[in-house]
Amino acid sequence: LRQKALEDLKGISDSAALENLRVSIVGKKGELTQFLRGMGSLSPEERPAMGQMINDVRKALETALDEKAKSLKAAELERRLAEEALDVTVPGAKPERGGLHPVTLIQRELVSIFTSMGFSVADGPEVELDHFNFELMNLPKNHPARDMQDTLYVSENVVLRTHTSPVQARVMTTKKPPIYVVCPGRVYRSDEVDASHSPVFHQMECLVVDEGITMGDLKGVLDTFIKKLYGGETKTRLRPSFFPFTEPSAELDISCTLCGGEGCRVCKGTGWLELGGCGMVNPDVLDMCGIDPEKYTGFAFGFGLDRLANMKYGIDDIRLNFEGDLRFLEQFAREG
Ligand code: PHE
Repeated sequence: LRQKALEDLKGISDSAALENLRVSIVGKKGELTQFLRGMGSLSPEERPAMGQMINDVRKALETALDEKAKSLKAAELERRLAEEALDVTVPGAKPERGGLHPVTLIQRELVSIFTSMGFSVADGPEVELDHFNFELMNLPKNHPARDMQDTLYVSENVVLRTHTSPVQARVMTTKKPPIYVVCPGRVYRSDEVDASHSPVFHQMECLVVDEGITMGDLKGVLDTFIKKLYGGETKTRLRPSFFPFTEPSAELDISCTLCGGEGCRVCKGTGWLELGGCGMVNPDVLDMCGIDPEKYTGFAFGFGLDRLANMKYGIDDIRLNFEGDLRFLEQFAREG
């Protein structure tokens, strides 16, 4: 039995088989245990010698079994370590890299142009009081010019701001001249959605209030920032217009930066693109905001950022700016 068990033990290579072997020898019904049971049929003289022998065999086999178990365990550990080894020098999977939205890119570029000219940046809420969006902009209730802006009302006195001009009012009511600020941000109008209209879009407002400011300063700042943005060839043009908060007022055009001549898709062959509105701050607005119109004059302009971004990046549908489509956004991942 001892010989056979030791032979069997050699052939065993995993712990399950070892356990089977152990049970078949020293288990309750194991061969060795059977021998012990058989002792009852021996004569009293034979028993001690037989008992001694069985115990010796048992000890020897148990030691052999234990050693085998140890060496199997060690081998299994070796194998697992080898199988599960990690190569920490393998380069990791590249994480997806986010990009900046084209409107963010143009906004940052404009902010850096204006701050380089000495302007600071001001901010205001998108859910705005009628008071700032309209009243202080010289658009009292029932004023017909309110119809120019398709307002989304939150309640009787609260609107989603229809332009960035209320930030002008917020700045003028809290700061003393000289004021040189730009105010970029989201604005809302209840427009039908199409390739060039969205109920939410972006504007940037520019406001200057100081002593002796003239229309010439307005034209100069416009010219400088447009040339910095689109290059020295680009021209600006003012056309007479009307806004209740500026007097005189003008429409601001720039020469078409992507002009394809006669049949140009961007400017329809006119050579000019409408960018926004501007003018000298209406003295009544200065007065309502607590600034002395006898001492100070100012200019303001406001323009759409989506149009500027789309012209710069050759995007022909404003809806793309708001859909969050990764195929669109990924194209800007390397910019900025
Ligand atoms: N707030 C005007 C608009 O949204 C633009 C504007 C700004 C006009 C400042 C004049 C001066 O249409």
